[in-house]
Amino acid sequence: TRVGAVVPAAGRGERLGGGTPKALRPLAGRPMLLRAVETLLASAHVTQVVVAAPPTLVDVVGQILGPGVCVVPGGGERVDSVRTALDALDDDIGVVLVHDAARPLTPATLVDAVATAVLAGHPAVIPVLPVTDTVKEIDADGRVVRTPRRDMLRAVQTPQGFRRDILRTAYANRDLPVTDDAGLVEALGVPVTTIPGAEEAFKVTRPVDLVLAEALLADSLA
Ligand code: C5P
Repeated sequence: TRVGAVVPAAGRGERLGGGTPKALRPLAGRPMLLRAVETLLASAHVTQVVVAAPPTLVDVVGQILGPGVCVVPGGGERVDSVRTALDALDDDIGVVLVHDAARPLTPATLVDAVATAVLAGHPAVIPVLPVTDTVKEIDADGRVVRTPRRDMLRAVQTPQGFRRDILRTAYANRDLPVTDDAGLVEALGVPVTTIPGAEEAFKVTRPVDLVLAEALLADSLA
C-alpha cells in the first residue's frame, strides 16, 4: 500500500501576526512549510506529498518546495484545503497522512509511527498528549457548563493517518464543524486509535510558539 501525505498550508495565520501567511514564516531562516514537508519526505513510508497553499502563492510555494511536491490552491477553511489536496493524490495511494504545515518541528519518527499503525490495520490513527491545563466547557455567555475529567482528555496533533477510502467518505460529509480530520471520521462511527504524540509536534499558532520553536532549533544546532 502506498502512503501519501496532504499538507494544509493555506491559513492566513492571523493569530501569529506579522503579515506573511503562516506557512511561509521562516524559522531559523527556512519556511515552516518546507520543514514540515521535509519531515514527511524523510519518512520511509511517504511516497507523495500534496500541499494546499494560499491561492495567490501556489507558484511561489511550488518554487520553494521544488518539483517533487504537488501544490494546489487551498480553500476558505481548513477542511476545504484538505479536500482539494486529497483529490490530487495518485489513485494508488491507499493510506493518507494529513499534516499541518504549522507543526514544523514534528519528528520523522512520529510520521513513521502513525503510518505504521494505519498500515497495521487501524483505519484512523491520531497522535495525542495529555493536557496540562484543566479544560472547561462554557456557554455562549462565557459561563462554565461543565468540567471534564482532565485525565480523560487529550490534546490532538498531526500527522493524523487514515485509510484513504474512509477519509474520502468522511470528507463527503460536508459542513461538519470539526477542527481536525479525525473528527469527521468519528462522525462516521469509525474507531479512531490514539498513539503517543511528541512535545516537538506542537502547533505554531501564537507569537510565543515562534519563540519556543526558534529556541528549540537553536538548541539542536548547538
Ligand atoms: O487554523 P489552524 O491553526 O487550525 O490551521 C491548521 C493548519 O491548517 C495550518 O497549517 C493552516 O495553514 C491550514 N489551513 C488551511 N486552509 C485554511 C485554514 C487553515 O490549509 N483555510
